[in-house]
Amino acid sequence: MTDPAATDPDQTDPTPTDPARPPLAGRIALITGAAGDLGRAAAVHLARAGAAIAAADLASRGAELGETVARCVEASPTSDASATTSVAFDVTDPGQVAAAVDQISDAIGVPDLLYNNAGYQGAFSNTADYDVDDFRRVLDINVTGAFVVLRAWAGALRATARPGAAVNAASMAALGGPPNMVAYAASKAAVLGMTKTAAVDLAPVGIRVNAISPAFIGPGMMWDRQVELQAAAPSPYYGDDVETVAAEMIGQVPLRRYGSLDEVASVVRFLLSDEASYLTGINIEIAGGAS
Ligand SMILES: NC(=O)c1ccc[n+]([C@@H]2O[C@H](COP(=O)([O-])OP(=O)(O)OC[C@H]3O[C@@H](n4cnc5c(N)ncnc54)[C@H](O)[C@@H]3O)[C@@H](O)[C@H]2O)c1
Repeated sequence: MTDPAATDPDQTDPTPTDPARPPLAGRIALITGAAGDLGRAAAVHLARAGAAIAAADLASRGAELGETVARCVEASPTSDASATTSVAFDVTDPGQVAAAVDQISDAIGVPDLLYNNAGYQGAFSNTADYDVDDFRRVLDINVTGAFVVLRAWAGALRATARPGAAVNAASMAALGGPPNMVAYAASKAAVLGMTKTAAVDLAPVGIRVNAISPAFIGPGMMWDRQVELQAAAPSPYYGDDVETVAAEMIGQVPLRRYGSLDEVASVVRFLLSDEASYLTGINIEIAGGAS
């Protein structure tokens, strides 16, 4: 049988042939939650690969956002400070998000890449006790917020007729049923559903949409917080001191360690790059073999 790739000139190796050109040169990436651990790590990876960066987070995270911007400029192959910008908005507010996309477009151009990463873990308590207002807040940030950003970004990009790619931040919590995290698990499962439909809706205009599902990642705020809060929440599944809980969590991971921030950021960079040009609507589990 003939290999179609051998005869079809449209199916040749898309790997860039100019080794001197950074792989994401000319691309513009919007990263939400960029003041946080994973957002900052991914922003730096994308900047190092040559993308211009729009780093976004809540107005209250201005100092941390400034640090992200500084690290991106340092990592950029051109060290061009004008290729990096920061913007403050709450992902749950469609007006703020739309204004921010306009602001970014004026400053560095319409972003063709999105790491839709802002998120909130919520409280830790048994489903029968879980606070309804907190449940709503988790869904509002992790689901509605992610949708609002994806919608505004995709609409602006579609108007330019350029292709693009997005990565939504899901979690192994969507799949594994972690105790005391009913709101977070529900929200991240919704992100997986949203990713699949958005991928189908946006494929005709050349926009790919994928998800990542990290498990235990550290060091960082979320690792510290979940170990502390699982220890404090009564449950038969974890001990009641942080060292025991940390060991129990790592014991669930076949690779017997938590993943690093860089090990998540490199997957984000891959999914946003042209190396992933035939991937859309998928979820990559970054979990050291945990399920
Ligand atoms: N770290 C992990 O172990 C892990 C595992 C699985 C999934 N995730 C997901 O990855 C993403 C990033 O996690 P992280 O570890 O960097 O957490 P983080 O808390 O360090 O960062 C989250 C960021 O989101 C921002 N944010 C929260 N609410 C917002 C809002 N309404 N508007 C705008 N920004 C808002 C926060 O200010 C913060 O900077 C989250 O979606 C999280 O659920 C993390």
